[in-house]
Formats: sequence, structure tokens, C-alpha cells
Amino acid sequence: MKTKNNIAPVLKIEALTKSFENNHVLKGFSMEMYQGENLVIMGKSGSGKSVMIKCLVGLIQPDSGIIEIMGKQISTLSNQELNHLRTEIGFLFQGSALYDSMTVRENLEFPLRKHKRNQKDIQFLVEETLDSVGLLNAINLMPEELSGGMKRRVALARALILKPKIIIYDEPTTGLDPITAKEIIQLMREIQQHYKTSSLIITHDIDCARVISNRMILLIDGMNYAEGTFQELLNSKDKKIQAFFK
Ligand SMILES: Nc1ncnc2c1ncn2[C@@H]1O[C@H](COP(=O)(O)OP(=O)(O)OP(=O)(O)O)[C@@H](O)[C@H]1O
Ligand SMILES: [Mg+2]
Repeated sequence: MKTKNNIAPVLKIEALTKSFENNHVLKGFSMEMYQGENLVIMGKSGSGKSVMIKCLVGLIQPDSGIIEIMGKQISTLSNQELNHLRTEIGFLFQGSALYDSMTVRENLEFPLRKHKRNQKDIQFLVEETLDSVGLLNAINLMPEELSGGMKRRVALARALILKPKIIIYDEPTTGLDPITAKEIIQLMREIQQHYKTSSLIITHDIDCARVISNRMILLIDGMNYAEGTFQELLNSKDKKIQAFFK
């Protein structure tokens, strides 16, 4: 296995391809993510970022390629093993996706249901996680009573509650005003430091990428077109890379 400083990647994609009829979306996309990294993936709208993530979590079947999560090749796993692996991955959906008919507390309890725990432990976990996003006082509110930024925080708490090793963020700042977006980015950084998670962040937001990334990958023409730090890519002379920073 290829490694960086002899550390195995927590996530590895090799030569992933996916087409929808004549629409060849992923044409041999490869990447690796390491423990503790904040890895940002940028790509134009329609370039296949969401398709790639859906392949990662098993919602879409790729045409070919290899996906390894924490050393396990996902195509070889049983449903039970796949479900277990999913508990190690937190997913922040675009636009929060809270359950509207449930209180904040119930939204956070939801991912815990499958895992046998006593009521006291559940209550402690819910309160602890909500506190870590600064929203303990909103525990009994309904989603409709929350602002956009608060919803995003609750969604973040829900993604965190099983203490995942990897968090995938799909457009975490889209639809938020610049100040709230900054708060969410700050929170993502705190969470990364506190829980030592590895984060895969899909974003269009160049400020978000600048602040949060340790490393970036540009998804262009269905491939990993370029990778490097924000500064390295910013300094690139390549026209396709430069286009992202204009
Ligand atoms: N289930 C599907 N069936 C057919 N085509 C699909 C399907 N899902 C995605 N596509 C196509 O795959 C391409 C990539 O879509 P994808 O949603 O991954 O883009 P994206 O990079 O996430 O864009 P955005 O930044 O707008 O979210 C698009 O051309 C889209 O029409
Ligand atoms: Mg998308």
C-alpha cells in the first residue's frame, strides 16, 4: 500500500469511474486522505463531487475503481460490515436535512437508536454534543424555530454524535451569510482539533477552502487534476487551476 510518512490513508480512492449513459462523470479519479487532515475538494458545478461522495458511502455503485475506507475495501464488505463502517463516518448533508417533525433533542437521538445504550447515556451524549456546537439551550426547539446557522450547527452535532473518525461535509457554508459562514468554519476547525477527526470538505467557497484546508484537490474533467496546499494551487500558472481563484 502506498503511504505518506509510512502512515496508511484513512480514505483511498483509486481510478474511480462512473458514467450515466453518455455522460462520463468520473474518468479515473484517485485520491488519498490521511488521519487528522482537512482535505478540501473543489470542482465546478456538475463536475461530479456529489457523485464521488455517493460512491464513497455506497449510495451509488461506481463502474470501476477501488474505494478503501480505513483499510477496508468497501466492495468486499457485507451489508452488516458496511453499516458498521458507516457509523465511523459523519455526514453533513447540504442544507442541513434535519427532521422537521422532531425536536433538536430527537434529531440528535436518531443516529443513536440503532446502537443499544441506556437512556442516561443517550441524554448525556446528546447534551455533550449539543454543547460542543454551542446550542445546549436550543435542545427542545423544533427545526422551524432555528435560524439557518443554528440548523447547520445542529446538523453538525448530529453528524458528530457517534464520534466518527471521518466527517464528510457537502457544501457546509452554502446558503449562509458571510458572518455565519465564518462561524461554521471556525466550529469545524474546533471540532477537528477536539475530536481529531479527518475531514473531507466539498466546497465552492474559496474563503472556506483557504481557512480550513491543509490540502486541496481540484476535480476537473473527471480526474484529480491537481493537488497541493491552497498557496501552492494559488501560485500555479496552469489556466484551469487559476480559473478557480478568480
Ligand atoms: N443519479 C443520476 N443519474 C444521472 N445523472 C446523474 C445522477 N447523479 C448525477 N448525475 C450527473 O452527474 C454529473 C455530476 O453531478 P454531481 O451532482 O456530482 O455534480 P457536483 O460536482 O456535485 O455539482 P454541484 O457543485 O452543483 O453540487 C451531472 O452531470 C449530473 O447530471
Ligand atoms: Mg454536489
